[in-house]
Amino acid sequence: MDDLSVRRCTAREVARIAAGEAEGKDYARRTFARQSAGECAYLVAWIDDEPVGSGELEWAPVPELKNLQVAATHRRHGIGSAIVAAAEAEAAGFTRIWIGVSEDNPDARRLYERLGYTPTGRTETYSYTYVAADGATHAVTETAEYLEKRLAR
Ligand SMILES: CC(C)(COP(=O)(O)OP(=O)(O)OC[C@H]1O[C@@H](n2cnc3c(N)ncnc32)[C@H](O)[C@@H]1OP(=O)(O)O)[C@@H](O)C(=O)NCCC(=O)NCCS
Repeated sequence: MDDLSVRRCTAREVARIAAGEAEGKDYARRTFARQSAGECAYLVAWIDDEPVGSGELEWAPVPELKNLQVAATHRRHGIGSAIVAAAEAEAAGFTRIWIGVSEDNPDARRLYERLGYTPTGRTETYSYTYVAADGATHAVTETAEYLEKRLAR
């Protein structure tokens, strides 16, 4: 996609992303603050001045791409793949990168496997809350399996 850019979020861009979030979500500002503290790289995909997807590359203990998401109206155009590629570029110098994928998300899993990620057999069950587009807060418990890709050094 010619006009797609995936890059680390800058201070100037946070307000633009936050403006499109559901009220009370505050995900962009919190994630940008974690990037500023050196905990992650907050990768945002843009088409012109519209943020269309994002992911967080957490550094410890192994670089791990978390919270990958693409706006529903922009899926299946390679944006998710481009964010994964940007995360791999950020992780250059490390030997591997992880992505956790929920057991009930076979579409995302197929994408990662196509991009060269393989199962580790390691699973984790966790609970979290999220604010949906309608502003309602939902509590979820999920089990995710970690997939791994070896990076060329
Ligand atoms: C999973 C997710 C991030 C993928 O993002 P995406 O931008 O649709 O990803 P891509 O477009 O790179 O790839 C998706 C599929 O579209 C296909 N595709 C990519 N470019 C395409 C194009 N130009 N035309 C048609 N299909 C295309 C890919 O081959 C891939 O096919 P596959 O499902 O058979 O592997 C997105 O669906 C999403 O946000 N889902 C909800 C949140 C979520 O589940 N996140 C993952 C957490 S682990």
